[in-house]
Amino acid sequence: MATVATFVQLDHSVTEFLKKPRKMLVDGRWVDAVSGKTFETYNPATGEVLARVAAGDHEDIDLAVKAARKAFEHGPWPEMAPAERARLLWKLADLMEQHAEELAQLETLDNGKPLFFSRIVDVPSAVANVRYISGWATKVEGSTVPVSQPGGQYFAYTLREPVGVVGQIIPWNFPLVMAAMKLGPALAVGCTCVLKPAEQTPLTALRLGELIMEAGFPEGVVNIVPGFGEIAGAALASHPDVDKVAFTGSTEVGRLIVNAAAGNLKKVSLELGGKSPNIIFPDADLETAIPGSANAIFFNQGQVCCAGSRLFVHKNLFDKVVDGIAEQAKKFRIGAGMDLSNNMGPLVSGEQLERVCGYLEHGAREGAKAVVGGRKLDSPGYFVEPTVLVDVKPQMKVVREEIFGPVVAAIPFSDPNDVLNYANDTTYGLASAIWTRDISKAHRLAAKLRAGTVWINCYNVIDPALPFGGYKQSGWGRENGRDVLDLYTQTKSVCVQL
Ligand code: NAI
Ligand code: MG
Repeated sequence: MATVATFVQLDHSVTEFLKKPRKMLVDGRWVDAVSGKTFETYNPATGEVLARVAAGDHEDIDLAVKAARKAFEHGPWPEMAPAERARLLWKLADLMEQHAEELAQLETLDNGKPLFFSRIVDVPSAVANVRYISGWATKVEGSTVPVSQPGGQYFAYTLREPVGVVGQIIPWNFPLVMAAMKLGPALAVGCTCVLKPAEQTPLTALRLGELIMEAGFPEGVVNIVPGFGEIAGAALASHPDVDKVAFTGSTEVGRLIVNAAAGNLKKVSLELGGKSPNIIFPDADLETAIPGSANAIFFNQGQVCCAGSRLFVHKNLFDKVVDGIAEQAKKFRIGAGMDLSNNMGPLVSGEQLERVCGYLEHGAREGAKAVVGGRKLDSPGYFVEPTVLVDVKPQMKVVREEIFGPVVAAIPFSDPNDVLNYANDTTYGLASAIWTRDISKAHRLAAKLRAGTVWINCYNVIDPALPFGGYKQSGWGRENGRDVLDLYTQTKSVCVQL
């Protein structure tokens, strides 16, 4: 329960930031929407309005794309040395760190997540992403290629060039991290950007935009246009002068992005949903597997694309593991994120609360039983109890569809050969995990799981250096690591007859 002592006082900078309607960043200037329209962003812990924000539409997107095009073709950006781009990114990371508490508070107010996590996960991860990628700016290399054509002598080489103007559409679950993960690599390789934050959580991206300008990025290189998905997002995805669109969000909207991109055949990368299997074998160390599996589903209120939402446990351990995770669930202190005594916050919006509760009701109708949780809290704000479902069947919606809330479906297995088939029986393929002390078994399974990430005896370990992305309908392309450079560059072959 909230007590005065643990409720964090808002930073003066945060109060000031929330006072004025927030504008959009176009061509280096902070401007209102052409239409003059604004929208409200809410505090999900209370449902109260936090701030007003300029509502971008197709006209604003068009101006932003024009600015990004101008910066890409004619500004100082195309001439800038890679080391200079690296220096700007590093400076941005320093500024983010200097404003860490302000960013953390804005994130918690806008998204709902506990301030403790904004402080130790979101802000440091965003900073680490920018620092990591700054190092790649100077290492985007082509190669020399031996050519075997008869009748001549050739010198051939490849160049890795920036893809151009990129549109980036991000979700609300890790708003600042997503903004950093999208902008960082595009800027490192020399692209220019139009970023569209989620309408639920525009604030940290807008504050990041101010820091980007303070760091000294040339005007038009980064444009940030807040607004609704079906308006501003759709305009960006279908814009004929955008060379590439990078999207993170629902699989449903991912499909819309692909269709919208068809007009000018812009390049597309997608990081979509998941229904990730988390498998506990009889030889697992339960001291780590139980809390690890609770974290796999409950972290960030379950609003994580790689959440371990299908828990497969060997039948001999099933009751023990389920009871253990239920115990962890009961221990959560649920409440406003700005209260440091809470370690689980609200869901991001009333819409998300309805969606999650819809799944809980559907599951109950189909015969799933909640051993813990299963209901929303009877209080203002969008709170739902951490929930463990048992008695679930493979065809149930709660087993097949992404819930994006703190709800795990626990399923017993007896034959280790079967569990691989169960784990892969999904249209998704973002992540997976195995808990076992048998190293050979772990690596054999890791090769057979159809997912972009396999965690062994851990979960949610996401690092700027480690590629991340989806098999199957969880997406196209990989972010993080060296792989992300492929999303924002294209190869040019140059062939010289000597
Ligand atoms: P969404 O996919 O609608 O929103 C993500 C982003 O896409 C936002 O910036 C939104 O404004 C934009 N968008 C929405 N419609 C668009 C359109 N027609 N054209 C271009 N951009 C558009 O996700 P939503 O509705 O907020 O959440 C629904 C479900 O999506 C969640 O329950 C969860 O299952 C999944 N999701 C997955 C995420 C992930 O990290 N993979 C993140 C957020 C949601
Ligand atoms: Mg949507």
